[in-house]
Amino acid sequence: MLDDLKANNRAWAQRMVSRDAGFFRRLESQQAPKYLWIGCSDSRVPANEIVDLDPGELFVHRNVANLAPPQDANYLSVLQFAIDVLKVEHVMVVGHYGCGGVAAAVDGKRRGLVDHWLHPIREVHHSHQHELEAITDDTERLNRLCELNVIRQVRNVASDVFVQDAWARGQKICVHGWVYSLHTGLVNDLNVTVSNVAEADQLR
Ligand code: CO
Repeated sequence: MLDDLKANNRAWAQRMVSRDAGFFRRLESQQAPKYLWIGCSDSRVPANEIVDLDPGELFVHRNVANLAPPQDANYLSVLQFAIDVLKVEHVMVVGHYGCGGVAAAVDGKRRGLVDHWLHPIREVHHSHQHELEAITDDTERLNRLCELNVIRQVRNVASDVFVQDAWARGQKICVHGWVYSLHTGLVNDLNVTVSNVAEADQLR
């Protein structure tokens, strides 16, 4: 079963060791990533590959439509561990253009549980309704909603008590909003980076 994947795994491990004999032994003893990536589960948006980082360099949390919901225990556990234990210096919320999750939030179709998961995106849509309705092209309108969703999730992360308490302790954390293009493979920095309480308050 899955013999091709197991063969891939053996070849990969061999490649890593031939490049750097102590690679896995070093990683085994500790992980010290500087970055937390909060991204979409979409298979076309693989975190490490996009920013060309090795295992051990990126702490990753992915879910449908890259949400950071303030009541989600999974996301909060990841965030707290990243901030309090790993002491990451950067948190990137990374959306992607053409996100199926974002599209599903606002297409009016019923899918079940995921409709509840995607509820925060409908709220983002509602609070930017005029801006979005003025965009006539469907793809462009969806892509703008993908950006607005990322900005809202940056605000969620930056307003979280784990992050606010870390800032109060003098810990350095920057929260960034990026959107990845499936078309070009490039990340678009939305320039909404927040690195202190005052900047977090300004973000709309
Ligand atoms: Co997506």
